[in-house]
Amino acid sequence: MADVMRDLARVVTFANGKGGAGKTSTAVNCAGLAAAAGWKTLLVDLDPQGNVGHDLGYYWDGRTDHGQHLVDAIVGGRPLQPVIAGARDNLDVVSGGEVLDDLESVITGRAQRSKQFHTMLADVLAPVAGSYDLVVIDTPPTRPNLLQLALASTRWIVVPTRADRASIEGLRLLANQIVTARATNPHVEILGSVLFDVSIAATAVRRNASDDITTALDGAAPLFEAVIRHGESAAVEAREKGLLVYELAERVDSAEPYWKALKEGRKPTRLPGSAPALAEDYVLLCQEILTRIDRIESNEASA
Ligand SMILES: Nc1ncnc2c1ncn2[C@@H]1O[C@H](COP(=O)(O)OP(=O)(O)O)[C@@H](O)[C@H]1O
Ligand SMILES: [Mg+2]
Repeated sequence: MADVMRDLARVVTFANGKGGAGKTSTAVNCAGLAAAAGWKTLLVDLDPQGNVGHDLGYYWDGRTDHGQHLVDAIVGGRPLQPVIAGARDNLDVVSGGEVLDDLESVITGRAQRSKQFHTMLADVLAPVAGSYDLVVIDTPPTRPNLLQLALASTRWIVVPTRADRASIEGLRLLANQIVTARATNPHVEILGSVLFDVSIAATAVRRNASDDITTALDGAAPLFEAVIRHGESAAVEAREKGLLVYELAERVDSAEPYWKALKEGRKPTRLPGSAPALAEDYVLLCQEILTRIDRIESNEASA
């Protein structure tokens, strides 16, 4: 493995050719949980929408640079720095946002002149990636050049998808992007795909979707056992509050008893009921991701 890829061996990119597939939710919640459990984690937001900042709350209090540093580092060839250092314990973030749209145009210009743009993110991520246990990249659905930057910088891809046919169609777009990326980064591999927003009694959905997903991704995407269940109200509330789902769940668990509101003659604090169950799904997913990486690394080390 080339030196740059050795540095990037613990980079996991969350990607899907479609918006609303659960990329940001799964990326942020897995990065946040891994960090809370002690993995020193860097989260890079490569999406002009900058939703990572909403989920972690740094958008709401004005700490995002809307992707300025990320763009400057990539264009100037200088190592990435965390923009929001300590977004949580053990969690640093390079924030994204609308400035990344400038990058998409810069790259489009360069792409017409040369093929060299692909490694621009890998080159500036590699010098810092080695000081983290885990690097997570969130990607946009409809910016192929930005996605190529991520795919050239990553060992692993996690593919969240809803179970409907339209979403699975979006996987074909991703599969094509991966084929393109392999020319620059032969080590990029799908670690697994995860069903997002499924009803709890989802065994049949899971079985059917599993075949469709495997076909759409050319047989290369083992489905994670973990699924992210439907839990829109908790998800929306978490994003509005700038909390990870498990952080919201912890608030629910320590919420005041209902009788207290009655006694004090006011409305009870509204509880987002699905947060604890959803938090559990993210824990199981994160566990599976880390275990799968660990197992493959051990196999490679002993090979
Ligand atoms: N568990 C869930 N069930 C249903 N909807 C969800 C859930 N978690 C998040 N959502 C909603 O799904 C939408 C897309 O999620 P997001 O992670 O932003 O997708 P992407 O990054 O792929 O565009 C968001 O509007 C979010 O509120
Ligand atoms: Mg997103």
